[in-house]
Amino acid sequence: MMVRWHGRCGATAASTAAAASAPMRSTAGRAGARRRDHARLVGGRRSHRLVGGRRSQQVLLASPSAAASPLRLIQHKREAWWFYRYLSLVYDKIVNPGHWTEAMRDEALAPAKLSEGEGSLRVVDVGGGTGFSTLGIVAAGVAPERITLVDQSPHQLKKARGKAALEGCTIQEEDAEDLSFASDSFDRYVSCGSIEYWPDPQRGICEAYRVIKPGALACMVGPVHPTHPFSRMMADAWMLFPTEQEYIDWFTAAGFEDVKLTRIGPSWYRGCRKHGLIMGCSVTGIKPVGATGQSPLDLGPKAEAAAAEGGSGVTWSNAMRTLARVVLGSTAGLYYFLLPIYMWLKNLLLPKSISFK
Ligand SMILES: C[S@@+](CC[C@H](N)C(=O)[O-])C[C@H]1O[C@@H](n2cnc3c(N)ncnc32)[C@H](O)[C@@H]1O
Repeated sequence: MMVRWHGRCGATAASTAAAASAPMRSTAGRAGARRRDHARLVGGRRSHRLVGGRRSQQVLLASPSAAASPLRLIQHKREAWWFYRYLSLVYDKIVNPGHWTEAMRDEALAPAKLSEGEGSLRVVDVGGGTGFSTLGIVAAGVAPERITLVDQSPHQLKKARGKAALEGCTIQEEDAEDLSFASDSFDRYVSCGSIEYWPDPQRGICEAYRVIKPGALACMVGPVHPTHPFSRMMADAWMLFPTEQEYIDWFTAAGFEDVKLTRIGPSWYRGCRKHGLIMGCSVTGIKPVGATGQSPLDLGPKAEAAAAEGGSGVTWSNAMRTLARVVLGSTAGLYYFLLPIYMWLKNLLLPKSISFK
């Protein structure tokens, strides 16, 4: 299995994973491998060759371990709902400038080839929030009438509904892990910066596979795991920061072919990735031309269904636990709102010749 890296960190990298050898492993997702470094010089069951632009490197990525890791504090639907209940008020003003600029968005969406079909593609933007990613889809040439923006947060969607450029889009509440759309409906699936809140990311990726047509493309933009110990601690307390390998494994296990990963990052990080990035990579995969319907990976009923069967409803102690998780998780998340400012100042003050890696 070959992985090709092109260019600098923060510019472009690409990896390809062969779908055929994918293990049927639902836990490849959130259980996820928490490896110290996402690119270690050790052998796993698969090897990936990374060929660098400026600095060629050959790296063997380890396969994820089967060890389960606990859900992060805000990596749950109820916690994420409350988190965005308040963050939606300032989302466009504070999240996008620090973590997810228009330039990054364009770079991340380029592999989705949205301009193909001259505006006729039918696109779903999952976890579209206030519509920042959706604006990128429109900017790429897709007519708003062909776009469906979904999110679990009514507060985020309210902001999206207020944007003139999104007039004509279908905007509705949906759970990324359990979409209401018929199978084989869309030409493109896009999801930017949402996977980190999904308690079962593998399930969400299987949904991406199900709702797109045979031969269609799914594009997922998300965080990457930090290797710096303090950043890793804060990231792991807050939400899911997958490794690059995890993305590839999830897409491959869902049945996608031609899985590719492109590295992105704010320009003022100068390619530094050790602190992780909230928007650190764009992963694409193709649903095989001959395949229809749902993913070959059968995950069984989703967690909520199992919990409902077990009779776990909303109780006072559950509510208190949710509140504590939201407060503690948001506190850990605050670190990631300060980090880009620190990196921005560093970039401003230090000579351009200094590398931050
Ligand atoms: C960081 S925002 C990204 C918004 C937008 N895609 C963008 O590029 O700015 C993440 C969004 O994912 C949504 N989200 C989290 N979990 C979700 C789920 N299970 N189903 C649907 N949306 C979800 C949140 O409500 C939030 O609006």
